[in-house]
Amino acid sequence: MLTSRFCWCVLCPLVGLALALAFLLAAPPEAAAGAAVKKGPISFINDVAPILKENCFACHDAKKRKGKLDMTSYANLRKGGDKEDPITPSKPEESLLVELITSTEADRMPPKEAGDPLPKDKVAIIEQWIKEGAKLDTGLQPQTDLLRELRVRWKPPVPPAAYKFPVNVNSLAFTSDNKKLVVGGYHELTIWDAALGKLEKRIYTRAERAYAMVFLPDGKLVVAGGRPGQEGDVRIYDINAGTPKLVNGIAVLDGVNDKAVMVKELVETDDSVLCLAISTDGKKLAAGGCDRLVRVWDLAAGHANAKVAQTIENHADWVFGVAFTPDGTRLLTCSRDKTAKVWDLKKKESVLTFPDHQNGVYGVAVSNDGKVGFSVGEDNQLRMWNATGDGKQIRPLGGHGKAVFKIAQRLDAKNPLMATCSADGSVRLWNPLNGQNTRTLTGHTDWVYAVAISPDGNLVAAGAWNGEVRVWKVADGKEVKAFNASPGYVPPKKK
Ligand code: HEC
Repeated sequence: MLTSRFCWCVLCPLVGLALALAFLLAAPPEAAAGAAVKKGPISFINDVAPILKENCFACHDAKKRKGKLDMTSYANLRKGGDKEDPITPSKPEESLLVELITSTEADRMPPKEAGDPLPKDKVAIIEQWIKEGAKLDTGLQPQTDLLRELRVRWKPPVPPAAYKFPVNVNSLAFTSDNKKLVVGGYHELTIWDAALGKLEKRIYTRAERAYAMVFLPDGKLVVAGGRPGQEGDVRIYDINAGTPKLVNGIAVLDGVNDKAVMVKELVETDDSVLCLAISTDGKKLAAGGCDRLVRVWDLAAGHANAKVAQTIENHADWVFGVAFTPDGTRLLTCSRDKTAKVWDLKKKESVLTFPDHQNGVYGVAVSNDGKVGFSVGEDNQLRMWNATGDGKQIRPLGGHGKAVFKIAQRLDAKNPLMATCSADGSVRLWNPLNGQNTRTLTGHTDWVYAVAISPDGNLVAAGAWNGEVRVWKVADGKEVKAFNASPGYVPPKKK
């Protein structure tokens, strides 16, 4: 149950779809009209390729090549697989591809075990395209990677002026002055006064969701995110630049097109990027995500000149967390593959594996001396282990009553602090020096996905599935403010 709901809300494409649909319902009807009513010639890239991507690429991409057929470029589609070109231009009735998508026999595509046959309107689009000569759109090369091309053409929706549904808070971060909170919204970042819970600014983004944020020493904000199952990115924003436009009295920045606001794209991938970490000296940045890879950038020459220093393939499944040791020589990582690992950045090799969670590991942190690793996960536990030497567990610290989603930390010689957040609705504070649970912060009534500690160590903020953000004082655990981080959202009246 827990597992399913977690995949659901954080990453599963289905919910992304449901959300997108919810917002579509509010859009004008022409936006929702399908290609079936389209007049004029069928476009391969705009009409046919999206159907192939949704229904066929899972087995016919460059890696899987079922039947030796790769459809991710026009050239490869026309090359065919085991058999000849599956398309006979102008003659849908003689095309193998049409024969297979309309077959009622065992050779049907997509295969029965993969689901229902293609709906009639989609089959009609493909037939019509072949009838019209099966042409590639002018301006495209036969070798063009269709996934990339579809991504380039995709335009992110404008976030609603007022949200009809609360947005799930997947990440949040304090600004360097400790006064504001940047919170991930639907295709945007929202900036709030942390003490007043007042919305100050909105920054539209290409990514549907922000899964992780870190500030660079120069004040720029790095955000990792994506659109589940579709794309992911790591982008750098200047949240104080650009020319704001007023929407409902709130300053809005265009982080999609305005190059003064979205100052750098570090990477674009085929699925969400889920976690970020910055080294203590601010010169290295790491990100991990659904493609199982961890990328490390060298930022020594400034973010504008960021270079990928290494790409690490050390996990068998989604990477949920990354943390640099304070000396910047090693990187702790964790994954849905049920392990946490330590990577030596100089030798470029895996140093050790911590397997004790025996279930998805959602977050990692490290002690000030870099010798102790901390990790949290689906097993409800915060675990403390040797991040050097044998990699053995020192002890489980217990933790929460349900899955623990994130771990935030502040590396400070005198007052180091860790905070964990959980499906049990609570946030817990920990002293990493002795592993003691120093405080439990309550008030949330839903799953808490995101947690952040202010740079001065005085405040902790956490965001939940129901859009609520709560801010507490570390010193006494008192709540400073609670607000819903969905702009303009009015909760339904209680009966
Ligand atoms: C779940 C995996 C899966 C999906 C999804 C899938 N296919 Fe296939 N496809 C296969 C397999 C396996 C073969 C090889 C079958 C064989 O050789 O008997 C194949 C073969 C083919 C071939 C014949 C290739 C050749 O030259 O032999 C065509 C054409 C084809 N698929 C089209 C499609 C289309 C179009 C879609 C989407 C509408 C699709 N497939 C979706 C698994 C899949």
